Amino acid sequence: MAKLTIDDLKKIREKTLPTLCLGSCSERAKITLHMGTCGVAAGAGPVMDALKEEMAAARRDDIRVVVSACAGMCSSEPNVTVEIKGADPVVYQHMDGPRMRQVFRRHVLRGEVQAEFALMRQSAFAPPAGGAK
Ligand code: FES
Repeated sequence: MAKLTIDDLKKIREKTLPTLCLGSCSERAKITLHMGTCGVAAGAGPVMDALKEEMAAARRDDIRVVVSACAGMCSSEPNVTVEIKGADPVVYQHMDGPRMRQVFRRHVLRGEVQAEFALMRQSAFAPPAGGAK
């Protein structure tokens, strides 16, 4: 069997990414609130409250919200990860209610990454331009 090159892997990724489903194929977005001990201590509760209100107002059945343990980054909590089908996941840091509302309205609903709050895009493991202060 021939060895795969980096170019081969890039081609596979470009071909596959747009067709990936999140939880189900009707799901367009997934929002993960990292609510481990340090996330809750840093204020993840109000982030959840704001997100619940935004979800209720938006009335979208193609967006899923999940709660997970910490993301292993105490100093940047509360963290929220936004995954939009066909795009790289983005981890947001130091979230609060107003930031959550902005991320929901602009990134989740309109696809506009809010770089000023972004810690990183997970596939690149590097901060997006203008992010991660
Ligand atoms: S305890 Fe802080 S990131 Fe896990």
